[in-house]
Amino acid sequence: MNAKHDDIAVFDSGVGGISVLRQLRRLMPGERYFYFGDSANAPYGSRSTEDVRALTLAAAEKLTREHSLKALVIACNTATAAAVSQVRAAYPELIVIGIEPALKVAADHFPGGRVGVMATEVTLREEKFDTLLHRFDSGCDIVKIPAPGLVELVEAGKAESPEAETLLRRILSPYLGKLDALVLGCTHYPFAAKAISRVLGPEVTLLDGGEGTARETRRRLEAAGLLENGPGEIRMTNSAPDPELLRLSWALLKEKPGR
Ligand code: DGL
Repeated sequence: MNAKHDDIAVFDSGVGGISVLRQLRRLMPGERYFYFGDSANAPYGSRSTEDVRALTLAAAEKLTREHSLKALVIACNTATAAAVSQVRAAYPELIVIGIEPALKVAADHFPGGRVGVMATEVTLREEKFDTLLHRFDSGCDIVKIPAPGLVELVEAGKAESPEAETLLRRILSPYLGKLDALVLGCTHYPFAAKAISRVLGPEVTLLDGGEGTARETRRRLEAAGLLENGPGEIRMTNSAPDPELLRLSWALLKEKPGR
């Protein structure tokens, strides 16, 4: 553990964290990434906090046991909200980064504006999110928008389907013409960004935490002297037995297996 050539593990409840892996890869192409999607247990967002915590700790245990890691990126807002403190406490030697909804970016860019945060039920009800909300809600008007059903469509490879657009119209219709920006507070949602923009209109800015998470990961690795500039590698695995999930994962990454 903690050598430059060790892996950066990237974990999500399913294929959503690939939106974060894309940003990590863009910023740090010379690193070795190991992606684990827990699609067999997705969606996490409608489970109890205890369930999400147990699943996240089990994934961290598996990843640290099976791989030599220098960092673990929890590329899942739901798992971060429910379990990042517990993962950090269990692995004090490991750099653990958790994604959060991009409220700071929204508050910085839209002072006095109206900002929606679309996320899972777990993320929106956790204390961690409330703390984040209260740091920024004096600068802009923030509304919580749960989006049940959208993660399932992304997991089924239907992020940009007519079904997704119908669901999004139902979820977002109360906010039409009323938002300056929408924070995509779940890593699955960037894959439905085009459908979301078709519903809200191009004037509403979509923000997500992927880029900030990649920058924070680079900052932490750099501070620890662990940045690697090798040939770069990506390996992916998924807890679901269906090989279709891995095929979808590579398609979402837009790369061929291996590199
Ligand atoms: N991708 C996860 C997130 O960022 C949650 C998806 C799920 O509900 O499993 O919140």
